[in-house]
Amino acid sequence: MDGLRISHDTSAYEVPAALDGRGRLTAACVARALAMMDRHGLVLLTGLLSDAEADAGLKLMRQTIADPDRARSAFASETDNHYVRRDFCSLPSSPEVTGFAAMLAQRLQGVIGEYCGATRPVLEIATFTSYFGSSHQYIHRDPMGVISLFAAVEDVAPEQGGTVFVPGTHQYGGAEYAHGGAAYALMELFRRRANARIFRHNLAKLWRMRRSPKAGLAPGEFRDRVFSAKWDQHQPNLLRFLTGKNSQFSLRHLGPKTLWQLWRRRAELDALFHPVQAAPRKGTVILYRSDLLHAGPDNRTPRPRRFFGMSIARDMIAPKYWHDGYSPHPSLVEHPLTFGDLLAEVPLDLPESRRAAAR
Ligand SMILES: [Fe+2]
Repeated sequence: MDGLRISHDTSAYEVPAALDGRGRLTAACVARALAMMDRHGLVLLTGLLSDAEADAGLKLMRQTIADPDRARSAFASETDNHYVRRDFCSLPSSPEVTGFAAMLAQRLQGVIGEYCGATRPVLEIATFTSYFGSSHQYIHRDPMGVISLFAAVEDVAPEQGGTVFVPGTHQYGGAEYAHGGAAYALMELFRRRANARIFRHNLAKLWRMRRSPKAGLAPGEFRDRVFSAKWDQHQPNLLRFLTGKNSQFSLRHLGPKTLWQLWRRRAELDALFHPVQAAPRKGTVILYRSDLLHAGPDNRTPRPRRFFGMSIARDMIAPKYWHDGYSPHPSLVEHPLTFGDLLAEVPLDLPESRRAAAR
């Protein structure tokens, strides 16, 4: 998105995955990845999955996406889900899905285990697809105290979306004391400025789609995305913007004091925050702290963008808080899994995986 001045160069946040004889990240690789997570709040492990493993993940995701009774996720944008601009749905706890999740958990144990104990719950195993015409999510933080993972099971082009992160905006003990004690205030100012631009971008795009014979807006879609009274945190909804009912971004986030601060500190905001859009290659796995500022951009191509996703809690978590931010599949609710369960589970077994472990 032009107005956000987003870099597409993620090389400063990448660590090439190196596996030991048991198919787990080497100690040196774990140390580099943890240093990235501490400093920036995210790490991109490139080449963590072989092509065959990524293909196996994609196959599982396609099976779920093709299922008319799939369990849709509620948290991202229900309106986008309704108009098939996005298809975020949780994956069932089948042996194949659990085996794929176990392979990732075991391979990444050195990194995830630094944050999540063995008894901590797996909050969600899901697939996130975005199609042409989806809204650009507002910059937000997910519920705190979670480590989340996105696995690219096919190449993602920048125009397909990927994920925007704002490195260094994660929250930890004492983080607020940086920048003369103004760190959190500056992060919030940056977020509001970015979200104002995202609001304008989404609105302008929808307006163009409305007039374009090729855009294919469904009957009622424009009204539901711009004038609806329905709850949705990631649409450029004017009604909810004006009445202050969107907790991510609304008129109440742009009071006179904020506008003055945005003007006065504009150069400081530009110097401190450098959003980056990750458009990962097939086989790359992104790990990020849920308290890092991020957003799912819009897909500007006819090619669907798909990610495999998994989130694991770092602490105990109240069920209401859990279900507000994550959408566990009914089978996961019925038979909860912990990080320790994934470490003990039989991982997805592909000849390719055994060869990777032997490298
Ligand atoms: Fe998010």
